[in-house]
Parts: sequence; structure tokens; C-alpha cells
Amino acid sequence: MSLQQRVTDAFTAQFGEPPTLITRAPGRVNLIGEHTDYNDGFVLPMAIDRAVWIALRPRQDGYVFAHSLEFNESAEFLLAEMVHRHGEWAEYIKGVAWSLQENGYELIGWDGIVTSDVPVGASLSSSAAFELASARAFSELSDIPWDPAVMAKICQRAENEWVGVSSGIMDQMISASGVDGEALLIDCRDLSTQRVTVPAGTVVIVMDTMTRRELSNSGYNDRVRECKLAVAALGVKALRDATLPMLDSVRHQIDDVVYRRARHVISEDERTLEAVEAMNAGDAVRMGDLMNASHRSLHEDYEVTNHHTNLMAVIAQGLPGCYGARMTGGGFGGCAVALVEAGAAETFSAAVAAEYKVQTGIDPAIYVCRASSGANIVEAS
Ligand code: GLA
Repeated sequence: MSLQQRVTDAFTAQFGEPPTLITRAPGRVNLIGEHTDYNDGFVLPMAIDRAVWIALRPRQDGYVFAHSLEFNESAEFLLAEMVHRHGEWAEYIKGVAWSLQENGYELIGWDGIVTSDVPVGASLSSSAAFELASARAFSELSDIPWDPAVMAKICQRAENEWVGVSSGIMDQMISASGVDGEALLIDCRDLSTQRVTVPAGTVVIVMDTMTRRELSNSGYNDRVRECKLAVAALGVKALRDATLPMLDSVRHQIDDVVYRRARHVISEDERTLEAVEAMNAGDAVRMGDLMNASHRSLHEDYEVTNHHTNLMAVIAQGLPGCYGARMTGGGFGGCAVALVEAGAAETFSAAVAAEYKVQTGIDPAIYVCRASSGANIVEAS
């Protein structure tokens, strides 16, 4: 059963009538450009064919009620009187409501059923998908014009200030602006985007290590802080404005960890722009090499891989038909991504799963991803 059907049926069962509105917002996989977004840099993600779906109807008493099919839990809150509760899925809805209200919008409440096939904590942006699906719901009911970049920023603020993670803009931008069949180069300074096509004859394969980022986001927030130290030493606006020779000239003023963090970010921006050229030229070999180099840099300099993402990338890189592979997303567990010859996708997927199982005892989830469109309204049938 499709998720749209599932969420519609559950809504009808719970409320005794069909939903008036269904919203959907996708997760994402990042092809290259990791930990560059909060440094005003470049990222190259695509929205994937896994999404958060919300079926809903408006209510006029200022409350939001939501039930999550995955967590089998309900939450209700008053828009005029929201309080934080630690670590619950409904905080994303609340955060978005808070952020929209902070931006001056008056909101209508709703009753909704939420479902998702974006795995949580797997570095495929389940939280951004949740935020954008919620934003789409509020904006539609409350007559707020839908501008993807504006909504992405509002949702990022929810994540930064309500949920408390200093994340950049990539996940919200791609979930808001994804394009069917295309990856997007996003300039995280001015939020301009450019469509980039995956080389003909290749597919993007996500490989879920089944390890999850721990609850605390301290590793991520540490990286943000370390980048700021490098920015201060370099005297630039953001690491986007620095080059490797500039970094070398201040090497003696910063500690080695900060130096390596900055080296990753600066070189990753270069790799991302090169990746766009490679993709535009249909050069899968070059693109794959850049993905491998990105992984190495994330492992050695940025230190956001874990044993399982390293292993997955290394196994994938060694298999026939694989152009390149790397961890994807924030890191500390989650997924890796590979660019694979289309004709080899099946044998590759089976081989990577078998070898990973032999080495870890864990059955991974491996799937070919199709690039999908960003957050939208689905007419309730
Ligand atoms: C997480 C954050 C993004 C980005 C990536 C790393 O997904 O939410 O903003 O920083 O990590 O590239």
C-alpha cells in the first residue's frame, strides 16, 4: 500500500471522514558537499523517493493534534501556548509553528496523521522532511504563500532555535526545492540553485549501515564551532571565502584539529564544484573519484565517519560497476551513497549487502534512489 493510501485510510479511521489535505515532503541524499552548508559553501543533494506524508483537516480552536503511525503516539498543543518537550517527534511540528509565528504569520490549527518511510537518524534528513511537510500544511491552511527558499529558512530556524541543532540549510532547501529526476547544486550563501543530471547510465544507490547517530548532536555542534575558530583566524566571512594556501598561511595560529576541519571544508567546496563539471560532462569516473576523495576527507580530516560507514564505503568502492562511494549527511552513522553503473545495480546491491553482513553481522538496507520533487500538496482523493 502506498504511504498516501496508508495515511488517508488511517485518517479516515481516526476522524470518521477523509482528510481535506495531504502534504508530502521528501528526504534527501547528498551526493557531495558535506559539512559545507553552514560554511556558506556548495552542496549537491537530491530529494529522494522517500518522504513524510501528513493527512489533515483544519480546526478552528487554535490547536494542532497529530498522530504518528510510526511511533504510534499522539501529541496535541495550542498554537498560542507552545512549550518545549525534550526529544519528541512532535517538536518538529511545534518548531515550525513557532518559527512561522515568529516570522509574523497567523496560523490555523489542524488534526493530522503523519507517516514516513524516511528512516530516522539515518542521515537522509527525516527531520527536514517532517519540517517541510508541516510547513506545507500550515502554509496551505493559513494562506501563506509558498516560496521554497523562504520556507526552508523558516524550517531551518525551527531546527536551530526550537529543536537546538545548529544545522545548515541544505536539508530544508532540498526537501523544499527538489526537482524530479535531478540533483541540485545549492549555493548556501545566496540559496541559488542549479539542476545537475546524474551521468547517463548510472544510478544512485543508498546503503544504510543500520547504525544510527546517537541522540546527542554534540559532534555536529562541535564541528560548527571548530569551523568558526578557523574563520576567526583567517579573517574571512566564512570558510567559503578561504583557499588552501590561505589556510596554510595561518596554520601556526590554529590547532591541528581546527586546521584539519577547515582543510576538509575548503577542499570539499572545490570538489563539489568539480563534481558539477564532471556530472555536466557525463563523466561518471571523475564524479566517482571525487566521491571517494570526499569520503577520505570526511574520515581523516573531519572525523565524522564511524566504523560502519567507513566499512560500507570501502566495500562499495571495491565492487565492479561502482564509480565511487562515500558517507552521506551529517555522519556519525547512517548511510553511505554510491554512484553505480545502471546495469550493475542489482549485482552490486547484492554483493555489498552480503559482504557487509559477513563483516558486521548486520543486514543493511540497500536501495536505488530516484530523484523526486520537493515538498508539495497532494489533493486528497
Ligand atoms: C546535516 C545537517 C545539514 C548538513 C549536513 C552535513 O544533515 O542538517 O545542514 O550540515 O549534516 O553536510
